[in-house]
Amino acid sequence: MSAFKTLDDVDVKGKRALVRVDLNVPMAEGKVTDTTRIDRVVPTLTELSDKGAKVILMAHFGRPKGAVVPEMSLRPVAEATAAILGRPVAFAEDCIGDKAASAVAALKDGDILMLENARFHKGEEANDPEFAKALAASGDIYVNDAFSVSHRAHASSEGLAHLLPAYAGRSMEAELKALDAALGNPERPVLAVVGGAKVSTKLDLLENLVGKVDRLVIGGGMANTFLAAMGMSVGKSLCEHDLGDTARRILEAAKEKGCEVILPSDVVVAKEFKEHAPSKCVGLDAVAEDDMILDVGTDSLGDLAVHLEATKTVVWNGPLGAFEIKPFDNGTVTAARQVAMLTKAGRLTSVAGGGDTLAALNQAGAADDFSYISTAGGAFLEWLEGKELPGVKALSAS
Ligand code: 3PG
Repeated sequence: MSAFKTLDDVDVKGKRALVRVDLNVPMAEGKVTDTTRIDRVVPTLTELSDKGAKVILMAHFGRPKGAVVPEMSLRPVAEATAAILGRPVAFAEDCIGDKAASAVAALKDGDILMLENARFHKGEEANDPEFAKALAASGDIYVNDAFSVSHRAHASSEGLAHLLPAYAGRSMEAELKALDAALGNPERPVLAVVGGAKVSTKLDLLENLVGKVDRLVIGGGMANTFLAAMGMSVGKSLCEHDLGDTARRILEAAKEKGCEVILPSDVVVAKEFKEHAPSKCVGLDAVAEDDMILDVGTDSLGDLAVHLEATKTVVWNGPLGAFEIKPFDNGTVTAARQVAMLTKAGRLTSVAGGGDTLAALNQAGAADDFSYISTAGGAFLEWLEGKELPGVKALSAS
């Protein structure tokens, strides 16, 4: 893991700490409906405030593309953050300029202020040096606590690390440690579970993982593309038939690198994609022309259970079947519960994240017992692809 400074390396008392957080939270009717991302930054914010820093939060909300879009104001998020922190969070109507400056000037040691959506300015996403300088004017130090935005080379997530002394916040630190334990420097054998609908969105990820993990379990719609590439009939299942060569190339690369790819050996099929559609578990040679594969079968789950017993580290991204409609969540739920149970028993380390993963693991009631669940979507996927994340790189270079 590359070196970066943390809050242990700085005396923050009396300093203006500009803290990048990811508060891009789900909202309905002006209310935050899932506070996980706010909860995750609480340790950093309380620590800074308790140590006497003037805490200034920078964040984005949605994709306003450089325009002021009132529905994408961070004001309701500031209110939700204050409620969770149990301390006041002031709000500045702009993240730069006079409005930001006067709100910052009014802060006393330990106070917390949230700046309005950084993406209301074009300079944020463009990582414009002038905009970054205008942001930097509000701080003495920069703290990045937003791993889930670190795949964006934006002013508040990357540019600022070059302008102010930069530190990882506690949630960034925890995330980088967990990711390092999962793929950087893991205890072996490592087993990756990769599911989801399409291979085309996960090509780089699969190519990277076959060089890093000992076993790669492929599930979800993606598995159908591999099965079809191996000459099996998948009926009318979701399948990217045009990616046959790609799938075969990935299987070949896995073989060369000593990674065992585990595809379903049996599947649950139905005639329609509907909750409680009549279904049955069949062998791969018995998928009919009008069948849809919607989950992994019983034998496949039994095999996976045996592999998991012999695994030290699990990396999980994506569901194994159509988990959003019952009973086709069975594969995902059964496997996730086993990973949770083995983790709780101290027998393996488990890290999950990206896209639908958190929802799937929550549905399985397994999320709390995983070693670490990332709230990152795109950033987690880019990390799984082996890419260097600009926000993390800038912290290490600082
Ligand atoms: C996320 O929600 O994954 C992050 O906040 C990044 O948002 P973005 O995809 O709009 O950059």
